[in-house]
Amino acid sequence: MPRTKIAGIGMYVPKNVVTNNDLTRVMDTSDEWIQERTGIKERHYAIPFEDTTTTMGVEAAKIALERAGVSTSEIDFIIFTTISPDYYFPGCGVLAQRALGISDIGALDIRNQCSGFIYALSVGDQFIKTGMYKNILLIAAETHSYGLDFSTRGRNVSVIFGDGAGAVVLQPTGAELDEAPSPGVSPSSPSRGILSTHLHSDGSEAEMLSMINPGFHAGKFAPEKKPAKPAQPYGGLFITKQLLEKEDIYPYMDGPAVFKKAIIKFPEVILEALTANHLQTSDLRLLIPHQANLRISQMVQHKLKLRDDQVYNNIDKYGNTTAASIPIALCEAWENGKVKDNDIICLAAFGSGFTWASALIRW
Ligand code: ACO
Repeated sequence: MPRTKIAGIGMYVPKNVVTNNDLTRVMDTSDEWIQERTGIKERHYAIPFEDTTTTMGVEAAKIALERAGVSTSEIDFIIFTTISPDYYFPGCGVLAQRALGISDIGALDIRNQCSGFIYALSVGDQFIKTGMYKNILLIAAETHSYGLDFSTRGRNVSVIFGDGAGAVVLQPTGAELDEAPSPGVSPSSPSRGILSTHLHSDGSEAEMLSMINPGFHAGKFAPEKKPAKPAQPYGGLFITKQLLEKEDIYPYMDGPAVFKKAIIKFPEVILEALTANHLQTSDLRLLIPHQANLRISQMVQHKLKLRDDQVYNNIDKYGNTTAASIPIALCEAWENGKVKDNDIICLAAFGSGFTWASALIRW
């Protein structure tokens, strides 16, 4: 059985750069507060009537396809991961397929929030390893700026998020899938590609980082907001005037709770990937964590005793782009020559759900 390799990678961010100082014009915040708590200096926002999650994803995909030397007619499956889709349904997978001029092949949409890219990578990996597909296009894109609360009420969430897209082309390596290497095997062993993926979730605190409306829950999971008597006996509970007047149409985050959980689950899932492959933190060439918050990445680095050159951060330029953050960071790291053949690269994510995941790759 072959392994899966990333044959091409691309990224796209919209042209509109929004600095922390720009945000001070619409809400009570400061450059100092945002940089101190999150490490973010600026982010890119989609341009209305020009950029959408699909259009940005397609731009990233075109670059990934060109770098892989793959034409659109050779793609045999599309995976699209986002939590900010153009439409409630259908998903961005078919919209990207149409924009790329492809028909008939399967297109799968994956959510899973900040862990979406690694979940999607894991799904693609299974299809490649079993020989079902030869060229999978995986797109991760987000347009958060269209759905954030830019009043002071929403400032703890809105300053963190940015828009952008990343894409990869997955292909079989052609190499045989080895048994897990024995302890002590050199990291320069020739077996390249995705070594393993590790997926986790725990829904017990699902609302800690969530956007529950518009949803089909009809108040079941927010009993304190349930009216004594429904306005009508059936239907009409999805988008109501009452709902639009409430603040909970925006993302909600219990920041301190997310922080505490993230700094436990990130190191756990990174060590799980290393242990599964009989490797150690010293074997890691680069950790690419989901760009949640620079303080979280720094705490993870500290806990794992990693050197500065072993951890890639670019949240200062893009903010948190949820599912797109890992492929954007991986693409930038690769373009900057920080990812080379045979390097051991760990991708790791933690986010809403809660979900957390890792992937270990020998590039
Ligand atoms: N500008 C200025 N002041 C702000 C802002 C802002 N943008 N946002 C919140 N504040 C204020 C609050 O109103 C509060 O004021 P008060 O003390 O007068 O009530 C004060 O700052 C502290 O608020 P907290 O919410 O307690 O802020 P905290 O110190 O916890 O920092 C933060 C908030 C940065 C979100 C922090 O909790 C954190 O780092 N959490 C991790 C979660 C995270 O980064 N998630 C990223 C997205 S999720 C993911 O990708 C996994």
